[in-house]
Amino acid sequence: MPNNKSDKFFKLVGKHRETKKKQKFLGVLKDYLLVLEKDKGIPKLAHKRLFDSISSHGITKMQKSEERCNKLFGSEELKKYDYFTSKFFGMERSLAKIMRFLRSASLKGEESRQVLLLLGPVGAGKSALMEHIKSALESSDPMYHIDGCPIHEEPLHLIPRSLRKDFEDLYGIKIEGDLCPVCRFRLKDEFDNDYTAMPITQSSFSVRGRRGVGVVPPMDANSQDVTVLVGSEDISKLDMYPEDDPRVLSLNGAFNVGNRGIVEFVEVFKNEIEFLHTMITATQEKSVPSPGKGPMIYFDGVILAHCNEAEWNKFKSENTNEAILDRIVRVNVPYCLEVSEEKKIYKKLLGLSDFDGHIAPHTLEIASMFAVLSRLHLSNKVDALTKMKLYDGKDVIEKGTVKKIDINDLRDEARDEGMTGISTRFIMKAIDSALSDSEKNMVTPVSIRDTLIKQVKDQIVVEDDRNRYLDFLGKTLHEEYLNILEKEITKAFVSAYDEQAEALFNNYLDHAEAYVNMSTVKDNVTNEEIQPDEKFMASIEEQIGIVGTSRENFRVDITAFMFSKLRRGEKVDWKSYAPLKEAIESKLTSSVKQISRIVTKSKSRDKKQQGKYNEMVETLIKEYGYNEESAEEVIKFAANNLWRDS
Ligand SMILES: Nc1ncnc2c1ncn2[C@@H]1O[C@H](COP(=O)(O)OP(=O)(O)OP(=O)(O)O)[C@@H](O)[C@H]1O
Ligand SMILES: [Mg+2]
Repeated sequence: MPNNKSDKFFKLVGKHRETKKKQKFLGVLKDYLLVLEKDKGIPKLAHKRLFDSISSHGITKMQKSEERCNKLFGSEELKKYDYFTSKFFGMERSLAKIMRFLRSASLKGEESRQVLLLLGPVGAGKSALMEHIKSALESSDPMYHIDGCPIHEEPLHLIPRSLRKDFEDLYGIKIEGDLCPVCRFRLKDEFDNDYTAMPITQSSFSVRGRRGVGVVPPMDANSQDVTVLVGSEDISKLDMYPEDDPRVLSLNGAFNVGNRGIVEFVEVFKNEIEFLHTMITATQEKSVPSPGKGPMIYFDGVILAHCNEAEWNKFKSENTNEAILDRIVRVNVPYCLEVSEEKKIYKKLLGLSDFDGHIAPHTLEIASMFAVLSRLHLSNKVDALTKMKLYDGKDVIEKGTVKKIDINDLRDEARDEGMTGISTRFIMKAIDSALSDSEKNMVTPVSIRDTLIKQVKDQIVVEDDRNRYLDFLGKTLHEEYLNILEKEITKAFVSAYDEQAEALFNNYLDHAEAYVNMSTVKDNVTNEEIQPDEKFMASIEEQIGIVGTSRENFRVDITAFMFSKLRRGEKVDWKSYAPLKEAIESKLTSSVKQISRIVTKSKSRDKKQQGKYNEMVETLIKEYGYNEESAEEVIKFAANNLWRDS
């Protein structure tokens, strides 16, 4: 029985080794063919392998009934690949495009001979996405390859050209590609050309082990050497063997190690154009040059590249680059434009760090709102805040009705939206610095806004942008936060908020319905039939600016809305009809305004009020996730800003 941690751990080590050993295939062509008889999908090409390994985690169709899908994606029924779901947010469109590329490439369409380029602003998640795509290979089934082959080539390459037609007829498997120079040499030298005797084995993909994944970092003009891509001749062996002997080859370039899997070009257009020709040859000819004077070497891999827009524009503007441009499939990876998805990114990143401070409610929301606002293009149809809410799938109420704007129209109006603005990193830096400036180890909406203002003043040099951002922080979000805060404090004040709201709702509905049908309402207390209460209804309606003749329409609309919902068997509650929900919230808020004002001001509190204050703070802490300090900070903020002049 293992009694300490190291014993326990080494038991695991042993098991791990066992399973690794057991899985590994060792054999010759005949054994491999037996494997193929059971599963003829095994010798798949790189694009298909990658596509399959990502899809194998599951595909979910965004349901039309799903609220987010319904509001944001309209008639598009986007496929969501589960492999990305828990790590990438608000990127469904880009991901769907990437997967569409891989899918058609895996069917050997033209895309299999193209480079996939991810283009996006800094910090939009391109690198993170690449890492995640590469690790999909690591968790996929190991590849079969000729043992000892530096480029892990497909064992079927052993089958001579003259036999391939027969093989294909027999197995229904098409063979693509020929032996690499190293294997060809060994075949002759060690196996006397008996290809049925060449050893075949299995290896897993590994980014760190450079098996099936090759990475090309950007290089300056001086250090750019094509050996990084295609390997080199080993000088130390040159005196042992003749010059064109494959034994002098070191096939360790990115295209060699990335064969069967992925070759990634980081910040691809920072490289000189000459350097990129190999990339093009690799896609188009499916082969790469051999170091020295040898013949081309067959290559099968997915070529992925990424860069930001400035580099891309510079590259695109040179017309000598046309040949390359024609071989690139570009997928934009814009910033996230949905506030609630953006918030998830920060949560993810905070979860990954050692961050242990307190984050007050709405802090990340305010930061997300700022990030999204900065990324939106101006619209002729709506103001920035409204657009932000619509993109987030929220109802926006205007003059007592839900604003009817087609999000697709807004999108059409703003092509390439999300390619500029504040980056995810900028926000994360602000969160970090707000935290380190805080003596209480916390970040609140108040402190994050202050930090963001400081950071914008410090770091944003383009004057127009800076002014726009400061305006968002100073005005738009200041007011928006006060709205949020006022609602929250009201909720903390009103005991049994939901019940009270529900009661108001039911009452209002009874009266409005009676009004519309010209009937009466039964009084709760006296059981008498009474006329609908005009004064009561008006007190709700005026909360959202419905006065005069528009009242009647509002009552008709709401009665019809609720009736049709009920007829469909759907549940209705006080949140069902957005304009009424807002009116009810506002009614409740104004009902406690007076007491909120007095109680939150510390100077004027008497004993009874202090009790009320303590109760409210307790609710904020227990039910809404504040701690004592953050509750105090936001209440102080409310006292100074919300009820200042009333
Ligand atoms: N939509 C998103 N969903 C999840 N995480 C995201 C998203 N956008 C950005 N991130 C996170 O933000 C961080 C920065 O992204 P990353 O470094 O991948 O950006 P990049 O596009 O490669 O930027 P650069 O052009 O500066 O290299 C990463 O940790 C990434 O996980
Ligand atoms: Mg990057």
